[in-house]
Amino acid sequence: MNTISIEKFIEDIPKAELHLHIEGTFEPELMFTIAKRNNKKIDYASVEALKRAYQFNNLQEFLDIYYAGANVLIEEQDFYDLTWAYLTKVHEQNVVHVEIFFDPQTHTDRGISFETVINGIYRALDDGQQQLGISFKLIMSFLRHLDEASAFNTLEQALPYKEWISGVGLDSSEIGNPPSKFERVFAKALEEGFATVAHAGEEGPSAYIWEALKLLKVTRIDHGNRCLDDEELVEQLVKLQIPLTVCPLSNLELKVVPDLKNHPIAKMMNKGLLVTVNSDDPAYFGGYMNENYLGIAQALDLSKQQIITLVKNSFKASWLSDKEKNAMIAKLDTYFQHN
Ligand code: HPA
Ligand code: ZN
Repeated sequence: MNTISIEKFIEDIPKAELHLHIEGTFEPELMFTIAKRNNKKIDYASVEALKRAYQFNNLQEFLDIYYAGANVLIEEQDFYDLTWAYLTKVHEQNVVHVEIFFDPQTHTDRGISFETVINGIYRALDDGQQQLGISFKLIMSFLRHLDEASAFNTLEQALPYKEWISGVGLDSSEIGNPPSKFERVFAKALEEGFATVAHAGEEGPSAYIWEALKLLKVTRIDHGNRCLDDEELVEQLVKLQIPLTVCPLSNLELKVVPDLKNHPIAKMMNKGLLVTVNSDDPAYFGGYMNENYLGIAQALDLSKQQIITLVKNSFKASWLSDKEKNAMIAKLDTYFQHN
């Protein structure tokens, strides 16, 4: 009873991932393979040289490399292979449910059709459900550094795929691109039946989190770390139990926190916030789900009870049905009792 190590405890628990950019799972080895078959050049001579470039001082330095990497994705099969590689990887980590972002504008702006992108991603997700037992939701994210017209155009292209897309999100360069810039796009998305989420309070101020709640009517905040600057906002997030999809290794690599020992996730839990652990862009930030959990567990000396709470939160915060959520939570209670 209660004897297994924290590493094994984390590895074996069934988990859900709610904040994951599929383009951020592009491992250098696969990038070189796909670049070669598409006759595309990569700016780095080798996998090792590319990996050495993964040193970021802020969000924008990361985004520049992340968008450059995505340039070699051309064919539907490329998007399939990218998504399938992620699913097989997290399957090994006992991830059983994923809600993943894709950034259509990163591809459509290069002349790749929306259909090519979504067909490849969705086919892999569907195979993942059948063959690996991983359930999923797909979230289409707008690039906030682009204009409103481009977002509206993207939403229009998504309408024939409503059955495949559960919600819309907002990512890319946060500072200077507040949620209010996309108020009308999100209103239309809500009207069309999409759920809404938004990255807010990663580098941007707590005011952007208020905007995401009030103007974009989001059901979840991606990141949200900066809510801690505003007590009234914390109270509101706790009261409404708005989930925050926190990404510890991303925060470390993008200098949102100086060290995992300073990561606010334990403080957030103690305040009653519904926080979850996620990997964001695992190929770039040095770890998938288990590495994120283990990183904070070790740095903050978290107990198994706290880990279980975080894992339960990830199912509570998901878009699974109440029945599916309750079944998972019962499973987690049993797991905790035996480990
Ligand atoms: N923040 C904003 N945009 C992003 C991120 C992120 O963490 N990852 C991929 N696009
Ligand atoms: Zn993100």
